[in-house]
Amino acid sequence: MSYSRIINTLFLCTIIASTNGNLNKVKQVFEKNEVVPDVIPLAPNEFLKITYDNALEVRAGAELTPTNVKNQPLVQWRAQPHTYYTLIMTDPDAPSRIEPKFREFKHWLVTNIPGNDVSQGEVLAAYVGSGPPQHTGLHRYVFLLYKQPGKLEFDEERVGNNSRNGRPNFRASAFAEKYSLDNPIEGNFFQAQWDEYVTTVQKQLSGN
Ligand SMILES: *[C@@H]1O[C@H](CO)[C@@H](O)[C@H](O)[C@H]1NC(C)=O
Repeated sequence: MSYSRIINTLFLCTIIASTNGNLNKVKQVFEKNEVVPDVIPLAPNEFLKITYDNALEVRAGAELTPTNVKNQPLVQWRAQPHTYYTLIMTDPDAPSRIEPKFREFKHWLVTNIPGNDVSQGEVLAAYVGSGPPQHTGLHRYVFLLYKQPGKLEFDEERVGNNSRNGRPNFRASAFAEKYSLDNPIEGNFFQAQWDEYVTTVQKQLSGN
């Protein structure tokens, strides 16, 4: 084998190893925190990149505060050409992880996103930040990115950012199944517990 062949082979092995490493990391962190199976049956392959206020990244289940996440974040992924995506943010721990009787609370749902331009998608539920009630511990806030088979018609009520309508008792996996979406291709999550900003979120949601 020539020297350059060896170098090439080593290079390829490194790429494969790092891809598998990431795959295992996503699976590991989704399973350890029981996002699998509480929200989805199988972990996605990649971490979805989510940034709040151009500064704060969502990192594999690390804790953020309701104050940190009050504004709609920037979500980035490598989109395939001529492809539509669905983005979901959901809280399986409503009202608490110990007693999730309203599992899940739908925080954000955007469909028919052309490529990775979330602003051009169809908003079924406008973004609402975390509002975990006091004394309910850490909640998991899970982001899921689905690839659509094409542009779809979504027969769902549209919900503004001042309304709770249709938000409790949501199921991301049932929604995905209803529209024949496969398992999410990318995902990520943070955890958050009550802080003073929750009062503002609750007021915001009492609009209707
Ligand atoms: C709610 O939506 C309106 C209209 O898009 C927007 O102006 C406002 O900033 C949003 N509020 C929050 C708290 O995100």
